[in-house]
Amino acid sequence: MQTPLKILHVCSEVASFVKSGGLADVCDALPRAQRLLGHDVRIVLPMFGAIPTQFRGEPGGACEAVINGQAVPGLVRQTLLPDSAVPVYLIEHANYFERDELYGDYDDNLERFSFFCLAALNAIGGSDWEPDIVHCHDWHTGGIPAYLKTRLKSDSVFAGTPSIFTIHNIAYQGAYSMERFQSSGFHPSDDQLTPLTWKGNINLMRAAIGAATKINTVSRAYAEEIMTPQFGHGLEAALSDRRSDVSGIVNGADYTVWNPAADPHIAKPYSPEAIAGKLDCKKALQERTGLRVCDAPLFGMVTRLVHDKGMDHIVDSIEWMMDQVLQVAILGKGDSHWEDALSDAAARHPGRIHITVGYDEALAHQIYAGSDFYLMPSHTEPCGLSQIYAMRYGTVPIVQRTGGLADTVDDATTTNLAQGVGNGIVYNNDSRPGFQNGMMRGLNLYGNEDKLGQVRRLAMNADFSWDISAQAYIDLYQSALISE
Ligand code: ADP
Ligand code: GLC
Repeated sequence: MQTPLKILHVCSEVASFVKSGGLADVCDALPRAQRLLGHDVRIVLPMFGAIPTQFRGEPGGACEAVINGQAVPGLVRQTLLPDSAVPVYLIEHANYFERDELYGDYDDNLERFSFFCLAALNAIGGSDWEPDIVHCHDWHTGGIPAYLKTRLKSDSVFAGTPSIFTIHNIAYQGAYSMERFQSSGFHPSDDQLTPLTWKGNINLMRAAIGAATKINTVSRAYAEEIMTPQFGHGLEAALSDRRSDVSGIVNGADYTVWNPAADPHIAKPYSPEAIAGKLDCKKALQERTGLRVCDAPLFGMVTRLVHDKGMDHIVDSIEWMMDQVLQVAILGKGDSHWEDALSDAAARHPGRIHITVGYDEALAHQIYAGSDFYLMPSHTEPCGLSQIYAMRYGTVPIVQRTGGLADTVDDATTTNLAQGVGNGIVYNNDSRPGFQNGMMRGLNLYGNEDKLGQVRRLAMNADFSWDISAQAYIDLYQSALISE
């Protein structure tokens, strides 16, 4: 075993406390896996209003952040990541975080997340624990690597502490007009020490890319993609400048949570060896969602309803789908445009299309278990966890060849299957015909019981547990410690 490291994760979501997407799953599972590897891991996150009272822990002192030239006081609460020994610090500030939405379109988002980052560093700096490494996730924590290079460069605790910045999605950058610069907690001259701005805005992701000791993203393919103009959202050159410090580490799945053999949310347990329960789960899903109880192939989705997830392909294909023998069950929340379009489609085709608009953990598990196929026509996908969960539930993913989807799903072609590979359907052409062709391949597979059984088994046996990726992060930290 290597020398244990003291690792601080700073993030805005942790699934046991608060979740809007895959970021929360990673920031819950990765610290657990690193703890199991013997490291001293801790997490700090904002105490959002959505965190249930019973998870809010005990008062653990005060913290502060200097914003707009004023010291803004906050509180720290302390608890443990449930069923683990991982300490969690919650940064409390009712005015910033007790709101309906985590991120929303709030005018003061730069101030909210700058406060969070500075208060998190202040809280840890004032404790009796000094991290060896600070691991920051996505733009909400993008200020931290830059604070370490500017305001805190001579700090008694943080001087020389390496930072890792993980890009979970480069489309969301935390870019704000320069009029708001003051509320970032940076001094205008800090921009000369490390770049903080991009295209006339303060841009937190840009700041992190310049300042972090190492930068990574959540699949190898996406790491390459974001260094190109097509996927880089303007930051491709900044990333390419640091190419030797950029890497891809694919996400894992927490199989204690995502396991059809022991899932409290689903109708019947099942496994690759005893698959019968999956049919009970399908029937239960049809009953719960008002789909006709029948043998038609069922296509599921659990997703943020945003354009990047390929919602245009879904909505534009509704009438085509209704010409086939199939059913669709979608759980999603997001842009009202997609919520409305899907609700309309469900109203027009009762018993054949279902949409639940909202966030529902139990229904998510039921869709992964009860569907035959899982649709993921994302235009871009940094990693994607949904397809990984679907596979474990024997639900064959149908995905566009991009980013983490390309890295985790092997196309079940005849050649691949002959070699014992092929856990899903991967289509190449990011277009409506390409997507429909992927679905058509699913329909054909459904008609071939033996082949479906083979793909299903390969999917269920694919292993995306965290051990390997958690160790890959430790190796990345070691290389950061050497280079800082
Ligand atoms: P992203 O992080 O881009 O949203 P991922 O596939 O990495 O995509 O992760 C999505 C995670 O969020 C999965 O755990 C999925 O089950 C969950 N999820 C997404 N939308 C919902 C919803 N409406 N209700 C419950 N869970 C959801
Ligand atoms: C982001 C990405 C998703 C990834 C998740 C966790 O939300 O969109 O692809 O799986 O982060 O890393």
